[in-house]
This record gives sequence, C-alpha cells and structure tokens, in this order.
Amino acid sequence: IDELLSEGVAGKRVFVRADLNVPLDGTTITDDGRIRAVVPTVKALADAGARVIVASHLGRPKGAPDPAFSLAPAAARLGELLGADVAFAEDTVGSSAEAVVTGLADGGVAVIENLRFNAGETSKDDAERAAFADKLAGLADVYVGDGFGAVHRKHASVFDLPKRLPHYAGYLIATEVGVLKKLTDEVKRPYVVALGGAKVSDKLAVIDQLLGKADRLLIGGGMAYTFLKAKGYEVGISLLQEDQIPAVQEYIERAEKNGVELVLPVDVLVAPEFPDLKTKAPANPTTVAADAIPADQEGLDIGPETRKLYASKLADAGTVFWNGPMGVFEHPDYAEGTKAVAQALVDAPGFTVVGGGDSAAAVRTLGFDENAFGHISTGGGASLEYLEGKTLPGLAALED
Ligand code: 3PG
Repeated sequence: IDELLSEGVAGKRVFVRADLNVPLDGTTITDDGRIRAVVPTVKALADAGARVIVASHLGRPKGAPDPAFSLAPAAARLGELLGADVAFAEDTVGSSAEAVVTGLADGGVAVIENLRFNAGETSKDDAERAAFADKLAGLADVYVGDGFGAVHRKHASVFDLPKRLPHYAGYLIATEVGVLKKLTDEVKRPYVVALGGAKVSDKLAVIDQLLGKADRLLIGGGMAYTFLKAKGYEVGISLLQEDQIPAVQEYIERAEKNGVELVLPVDVLVAPEFPDLKTKAPANPTTVAADAIPADQEGLDIGPETRKLYASKLADAGTVFWNGPMGVFEHPDYAEGTKAVAQALVDAPGFTVVGGGDSAAAVRTLGFDENAFGHISTGGGASLEYLEGKTLPGLAALED
C-alpha cells in the first residue's frame, strides 16, 4: 500500500476488501477488533484523497439479501473509529452502490452491503464468480486486499477481483503475514501451540504440520474429548467426532515418535447439560478427572489441575500460537480455562500469537489488554491454513 500511496491516489476509487465479519448480538457489535484492524489502511487512503469503497462479507447468508447479516452496524462503527461520515450502500453492485460511489468526494469513505448477498461471491463456478467480479471491478480503479480473515477463501472479491484491477496489500495483511512468517521461518523454542475450539476436524491439517514443528501441543476445548476417547477414556455426552478417532490415534503415536509433547486435559468441568448462554444462569459444574467423566455428563471446560499444567507448559515458551478457546468461555462458569491460557500467554517470555476469531474475541471480552500479547490475529481459518502451508487464494492473487 505504501507503493500505491507514493504513486498518488487522490481522486482514485479504491476498493478495500476488508474482513468486517464481526460477532453481532442483534445489531450490536460485541467485538469490533476486525473493524479497528482495517482502520490504518482506510485512513491512510482517505487522508491521501482516495475515494475509498470498503467491502466485506458478514456471516454466511445464502447468496441473497438477509437483514440479519447487514453490514450497516459495521459501517456505523467504522465511521465512529475514523471520526468521519461513512456512506452506506444498501446493495453491493446495484444502483445504491453506484450512486454512493459516484457521490464520494476525494477522501470520502463508503461501505457497500454484504458481498455474500450475491451468489457470485462464493460460487464454485468460475464463470459465475467472474461475472460478479466484473461488476465489482466497475466500481473501482484500484484494489487493496486487507481482509486477512478471508484470504483462505477462493471468493470473487478475494481471488477474482484483484486480477481485474491494479492490486496492493493493505497494512493489516502485511502485518499478519509478517507475524505468521515468524511462526514458520524464525521460530524461537520451545514452540508451544495451544489448540481448542469445538471441532477436531477443523484442526487436523494444522496438527499434522505442527507435529513436525512444535515442541509441545496443548489440547483443550470441545476437540479434547475426541483425543481423550482416542486414548480409551469414556467421555460421557461430551462433544465427540467418532470418525476422527483413528486420525487422532495416529497423531498421538506420531507425537511420541517425533518427540513432540502432546498434552491433554487431566481434569475437566462437567455438567448434565450445555449452559444457557443468554441468561448465564449458574451451571453448577463439577470437576472430575479426565478418565472419569460420568456417562450422563458433558465436559465444558478444562479443570483446575489442567489450568496449572498448561500454564507450566507455557511458562518457558519462546514462541506461542494459540487458536481456539479451552471451554465454553461465553459462560462465566466455563471461562476459567480460557482465562488461564490467556494469562499464561501474557506471562510467557516469548513471542505470543492469538489466532482465530473466537480466541481473539475471548481475550478481549474476558478483559485482557490486547497489548499484552505479541499479536492478536484477525484470521481464524486463514492463519490455520497459512500454518498448514497451504497457498491462500487471497494472498496468491495479491502476489501475482
Ligand atoms: C472468519 O470469520 O474466519 C472469516 O471472516 C471468514 O469467514 P467464513 O469462514 O464465513 O468464510
């Protein structure tokens, strides 16, 4: 983007593909981290006199307008953060978008409605995506990719559109890639990775890679129960992906062979049912050993002994990557595991990276100071796929 700014952008229509996919409670944004992350790019362009068109997806609407997924709240928040008026187009490529873009003054900023209200954005059909990208290209003179959280998606605005316009990477993408390079090329040891979240299937590919790179792998969250089951423990009614057990067993064996310490919970908090996240009514969980989960109970967080164990495994870390909460942190009775891991990252001597929408939102909503971490990534799937060594369509299109 510095190259673009030095060439001069005054009066140019610059399409910024951001990731404003923020968590919403109705129309209230519960974590604005992703909006704040794109402000430096938008501000630099606007200050240089560009006419800035900010575009993003939000949620997974079905290729048609759906008010529940409108970007209007995100546009309003962007305006507050910029301290400037931000125009909002009620469609993405139709008459409203055209009018809003035509009405932009030099230095003005507009947000166009959710890209995924158009089936062409996410289509697997190259021609359908191309047709939508052609329409988007008609709105702008230049493309700036800065939606790091979406670079792993082969979507029209991420992959096809940059091929149609002079294209540049924004500040956020440059920072995120710089950090992930440190985790792949310049890692300081011990390299400790903490993985949580609901589904083990989302993490298989990254675990596969990490078994050759990390020194320690700490497992928590819903995915831990598939590991415990693979070790032969009963997990009651906890989240379980039976079909992944053979893969997990192979990982447990490979970790041992490769000298990677694979650390599983030694105790967990259990209850007969999933907590009510709306009322946050007391859940009264009990703590049990990881090999003694009662048949009618569900594991919902790591227990106190595991919290201590994981903190000790992080205490001397030279590098940490953490993706995925350790429990149902949205409920106060199950937030301690995630808090303990976040605190251990704060206390760790090395470079710490929090990756993933949920863990990033967790550290902020649990009251941690963002600056206490080396880096909080805006990308969940994107950072995982980067660490898996995959080619990310949105980065490849910018490098092209
Ligand atoms: C994310 O939340 O990880 C990104 O915004 C991508 O969203 P998606 O998984 O719906 O493509």
